[in-house]
Amino acid sequence: MQFKNLVAALAIAGLATAQTPAAAPTKGSAHINMADIDATISFEKVATGVNVTVTVAKGLTTALQVLPSGFQYHIHEKPVGPNNNCTATGGHQNPTKVNYNTAPCDPKNLASCEVGDLAGKHGNLNGTADGKVASFSYIDTQITFDGDNSIVGRSVVIHNNVTRIACADIVTGAATGGNNTTGGGNTGGDKDKSSATKLAGSLVLSSMVALMMFAF
Ligand SMILES: *[C@@H]1O[C@H](CO)[C@@H](O)[C@H](O)[C@H]1NC(C)=O
Ligand SMILES: *[C@@H]1O[C@H](CO)[C@@H](O)[C@H](O)[C@H]1NC(C)=O
Ligand SMILES: *[C@@H]1O[C@H](CO)[C@@H](O)[C@H](O)[C@H]1NC(C)=O
Ligand SMILES: *[C@@H]1O[C@H](CO)[C@@H](O)[C@H](O)[C@H]1NC(C)=O
Ligand SMILES: *[C@@H]1O[C@H](CO)[C@@H](O)[C@H](O)[C@H]1NC(C)=O
Ligand SMILES: *[C@@H]1O[C@H](CO)[C@@H](O)[C@H](O)[C@H]1NC(C)=O
Repeated sequence: MQFKNLVAALAIAGLATAQTPAAAPTKGSAHINMADIDATISFEKVATGVNVTVTVAKGLTTALQVLPSGFQYHIHEKPVGPNNNCTATGGHQNPTKVNYNTAPCDPKNLASCEVGDLAGKHGNLNGTADGKVASFSYIDTQITFDGDNSIVGRSVVIHNNVTRIACADIVTGAATGGNNTTGGGNTGGDKDKSSATKLAGSLVLSSMVALMMFAF
């Protein structure tokens, strides 16, 4: 086989890899199930942004609520630590480095908000007598499933004034679970296994193309 052909084969092999990029997920959810709080925050990519649906099945009571303005909740940078450690989630997702302490989020001016400040942009969770909060949805135009504002690999934390009272990892894929993982009360989803499989498949294909060129 001529050197020219080998180069061509390698170019084709490279192309085969490049043509199957890992697809970003389009769905995810955080199922918080700790400290007697059961809340699910689901995320779904839609044409105008990400549709966020919040359902609280139990735990956010007016008796527990410290601030009259309700419970804050945010997307945090990192996953939950072992034994439901909400401190391990780090700070709020804030890629634009907004200074929350000097200038609170103005929902009418999204540039003033931390990307992960769901409560600041869309309202706090208001406690109820029985601790349930009826399901509600909104479109968030900042968060995404890939790039700088990606929520993949992060977590959701509910606060009561300054205390982090409950948290769970955001798991990609359809929500199925309700039990804890290593961290914060989430199972289900596929951890986006499919894109890893696809990439491995295209690499095998590339190697086969290269080997066939050698054989002939
Ligand atoms: C989830 O974690 C909480 C807090 O650690 C614990 O009370 C609860 O039993 C766990 N649930 C399951 C299903 O493991
Ligand atoms: C957002 O999700 C809710 C709950 O599934 C649904 O009722 C609503 O139609 C969705 N909105 C959009 C724009 O997809
Ligand atoms: C929780 O995580 C934080 C930050 O990683 C760590 O400093 C702390 O020791 C952890 N707490 C427990 C109880 O493991
Ligand atoms: C909680 O109550 C406040 C004040 O009435 C309101 O502005 C906010 O939208 C409510 N939060 C939700 C999620 O409905
Ligand atoms: C909220 O937390 C801050 C900081 O610890 C504290 O100063 C304040 O008194 C708390 N607010 C209420 C209503 O407890
Ligand atoms: C959670 O775990 C319990 C006990 O292992 C099991 O009975 C239940 O079916 C599980 N729920 C989900 C949603 O996986």
